[in-house]
Parts: sequence; C-alpha cells; structure tokens
Amino acid sequence: MTRIGWYGLGSMGLAMATNLQKHLAKSTPGSLLYSNRTMARGAPLKALGGTPESSFSKLVSQCGIIFTMVSNDVVLENLLSIVTHSNQSLKDKIFVDCSTVHPETVGRIVRELKRKEADFLAAPVFGGNPIAVDGKLVFAIAGPKRASDAVKPLIQDVMGRKVIDCGEDAQKSALLKIAGNIITVNLLEAVGEAQVFAEQTGLGTGAMEELIGEAFGPVAGGYSKRLTTGAYAPPLDSRPGFGVSLAIKDANHAFTVASESNVKLPALEVATNNMVAAREYAGECLDASSMYGILRQKAGLEFWNEKSRQG
Ligand SMILES: NC(=O)c1ccc[n+]([C@@H]2O[C@H](COP(=O)([O-])OP(=O)(O)OC[C@H]3O[C@@H](n4cnc5c(N)ncnc54)[C@H](OP(=O)(O)O)[C@@H]3O)[C@@H](O)[C@H]2O)c1
Repeated sequence: MTRIGWYGLGSMGLAMATNLQKHLAKSTPGSLLYSNRTMARGAPLKALGGTPESSFSKLVSQCGIIFTMVSNDVVLENLLSIVTHSNQSLKDKIFVDCSTVHPETVGRIVRELKRKEADFLAAPVFGGNPIAVDGKLVFAIAGPKRASDAVKPLIQDVMGRKVIDCGEDAQKSALLKIAGNIITVNLLEAVGEAQVFAEQTGLGTGAMEELIGEAFGPVAGGYSKRLTTGAYAPPLDSRPGFGVSLAIKDANHAFTVASESNVKLPALEVATNNMVAAREYAGECLDASSMYGILRQKAGLEFWNEKSRQG
C-alpha cells in the first residue's frame, strides 16, 4: 500500500494530519510519515503512531502521496524545489497541496512536477482550525483524475465533510479558494463592524453574537466568537487561528487576479487596509479578525478588549 507523507504542522496542518493519522491507523499500521520545520510540533502525531522524518527529501522518497500545508507560495515553492531540483526520482508520485497559493504558483509547480513525471493536486481548504480539528473542512480539489481518485478517500469523511471537484486544471481550485477568501475577509470585517456598533450603541455584544449565529450561520457566529473571546489578539506565545499575514496574502492574491480580469474589490480593500493597520499596531501575532481592533480604535475604544491580550 502507498505510504502517505505530510509536511506542515501549523494551525491547520497539525489538525488535518492528526485526523489523517487516526484514519490510517485503522487500516495501515505503518502510519503517516510527517515532517515540519519545527519538528517538535509533531509530538501529538507521534503519540498517535505517526513517524517523524526531519528531511523532506527522505520523506518524499518513502511516500507515494505527499501532502503539504504551509503558509505561503514562497515556502511551498522552496520546499518542492528541494526534490524537483535534485536527481531524486519522483515518477508517479502524487503531491497534494492544501495551502492557499496563487493560481500562477500552482501552474509553475504543475510544470516542474510534470517534468519529473509526478502529479500535482491543488486541494485548498475552507474552514478554520476548529473545523479542521472536527474533520469537517470543505476541500476544493483539481488535478489529474488519477491523483484525485487516489486522494479523495483520504479526504472525504477523514479531514473533510465535502470535496468540490474543480476538474483536471489544478489552477481552478486555487482560484476558487482565492474567491472564497474574498467572502471570508469581508465577512470578518462585517462582523467586526457590527460588534463595534453593538458595543458603542449600548446594544451589547452578547445579543449581537446570538443574532449573528442564529441569523447568519455558524461561520459568522464563529467569527463573532473570535472577537468576544479575544482570539483576534491572542497571547504572544500562542499561534493565531488564521494568522493576519496569511489573510493579507490571500487578499493580495485576490487583488492580483482581479486586476488581470478588470474586477474591482472595494470592500476587500477596506478590510485589507484594516488588517494591515492592525498588524502595524500590534504585530504579527494576530488573527485575521484583528481588523476589529482597528474598528474599535476608529470608534474611540482601545484596540484590545477585555478578553484579548493587552499589548
Ligand atoms: N488558519 C486558517 O484558518 C486557514 C484556513 C484555510 C486555509 N488556510 C491556509 O492554509 C495554510 C496554512 O495555514 P495555517 O493557519 O496552518 O498556518 P500556520 O499556522 O502559520 O502554519 C504554517 C506552516 O508553514 C510552515 N512554515 C512557515 N514558514 C516556513 C518556512 N520558511 N520554511 C518551512 N516551513 C515554514 C510552518 O512551520 P513551523 O511550524 O515550523 O512554523 C507551519 O508548518 C496557509 O496557506 C493559509 O492561508 C488557513
């Protein structure tokens, strides 16, 4: 049976790999071979029977299907170049990337891997860390049918509740992910604005949160909780659920693609400017919802609320 490899154990990757390892442990005692820049983050996976491998190239040589879940395009391309720019055989291997990257990055990777007779499946995901922990992510996948047929059983009801098949052009699922994040970032901005409105008018954030969850669904309700629990500005020694720089990267990908197609994204510009301002004010350790801190400041409140870190 094909050995499965995993690289990238961040906020999303660790939760996803954990569900995959639990699934593999039922059928394959051999288990998931995992790697990460910070290997110590794999301790929970090791406890579940996963096998650490600090060298990406050695991981690839032992696996037929290799998942990656890293922060951005540069990290992904640098990682894959370790094996594409070596003499290592990649023939018939399937690389599955779940990160959010630009469709052009996907195009370059597809070409590089094709040169090495390997397949690439772009499989970005929708849903944050709690949804990843529950194994209920929505995946958009695109790439050669051979690859999607092999990989779908490792996703459906393992890491995800739904697989949207975008066909054989791997760039299409990357495009869908970028489009989806236009909604994500705008929704974070909308919920932040409503919560500042509720606080400043004396309505109260509790009633507002109840309404958001009931009337606009669990995703919007979860975004509200990021504000009211202070998760928008978590403690400095923790990892944000969806790092503000990752969301700014996603918005910038959307702007690039949009401008090439003569599409304007004015609401996304407002939300992105607020995220950039939040990062300038409070640094990297912020969730994407931290535009809320700037919206608070614009209303005469402190950036921090009573549940967030205080500086
Ligand atoms: N968080 C969300 O809600 C969410 C939802 C959907 C999609 N996404 C996308 O999923 C991807 C991962 O997100 P995440 O929230 O899991 O990010 P994250 O917590 O910041 O983790 C990033 C991962 O990339 C690795 N990494 C970062 N810089 C690296 C470098 N220079 N060299 C090697 N490895 C490096 C990190 O390694 P270390 O552990 O060593 O730092 C970690 O494994 C991103 O593309 C993001 O846009 C995120």
